[in-house]
Amino acid sequence: MAKIIGGITTSHIPAIGVAIDKGLEDTPYYRDLFAIYPPIRQWLNEEKPDIAVLFYNDHGLEMWLDKKPTFAIGCAPKYENADEGWGIKPIPPVTGETELSWHIVNHLIENDFDPTVCQDIKVDHGATVPMTLLWPNHSYQGIKVIPVAINCERHPMPKPSRSYAFGKAIGDAIRCWERDAKVVLLGTGGLSHQLDGPRAGILNGDFDNYCMDKLVSDPQELCKFSNVDLIEKGGAQMVELAMWLAMRGALGEGIPEERLRNYVSPISNTGVGVQLLIPEE
Ligand code: DHB
Ligand code: FE
Repeated sequence: MAKIIGGITTSHIPAIGVAIDKGLEDTPYYRDLFAIYPPIRQWLNEEKPDIAVLFYNDHGLEMWLDKKPTFAIGCAPKYENADEGWGIKPIPPVTGETELSWHIVNHLIENDFDPTVCQDIKVDHGATVPMTLLWPNHSYQGIKVIPVAINCERHPMPKPSRSYAFGKAIGDAIRCWERDAKVVLLGTGGLSHQLDGPRAGILNGDFDNYCMDKLVSDPQELCKFSNVDLIEKGGAQMVELAMWLAMRGALGEGIPEERLRNYVSPISNTGVGVQLLIPEE
């Protein structure tokens, strides 16, 4: 049977992709941020997951305001990307895992979630920046990836509790897939940030750390927030906590071990959290 071996949360700020391209990882501005990735990469090297289920949001590359699925799942053999105007160089495509994608889709529909099925889709910085961070020099050729997109751009967005439940259903689907495969979950985006409007630049380190604590010990507390609550506390793009909650839902109900954590703020106007969670056996 397939097994979920861990969950990783990470921001996906485009500027981080540019910093990697420019070799700025060991500069004073970025050093504390990048310090967390080598131990996470080491864990990935030791565990060697076969598949990554990557929760991200499409910021407009494929799904903009004119067509915005609430939940969407990649069912493609590969996923290309493109520069969205941030100046991040396109990276080599990631390979899909269509059999597990379809298994998840079928399981979700049987369990009252109705995702959009994407058989031909490009992925944006929400996916490419985490892949680049976790598999340096694009060394992800050995791992298959299933991108799962959650609407974080256009109201109405799924409630935090709904994203958690959606992730939980995906976790159940993975655990009943009759293949011997190790699966790692990636929850990307967040934490506090707002990119435009009068409150642009808002940060809330206390709330970010509260969310990281509760993500481990009591994610139901985070499910009590509405998206408006999250926006008030951490800015308009704090709603990207949706992907962290989906990852945590998929990880299972027991309290995971928090193996690693990092929090740096601000990086490019964003509170950047990173966690490595190991599910209860
Ligand atoms: C930025 C963009 C993002 O999608 C994000 O999650 C954080 C920051 C940015 O443009 O700075
Ligand atoms: Fe984002």
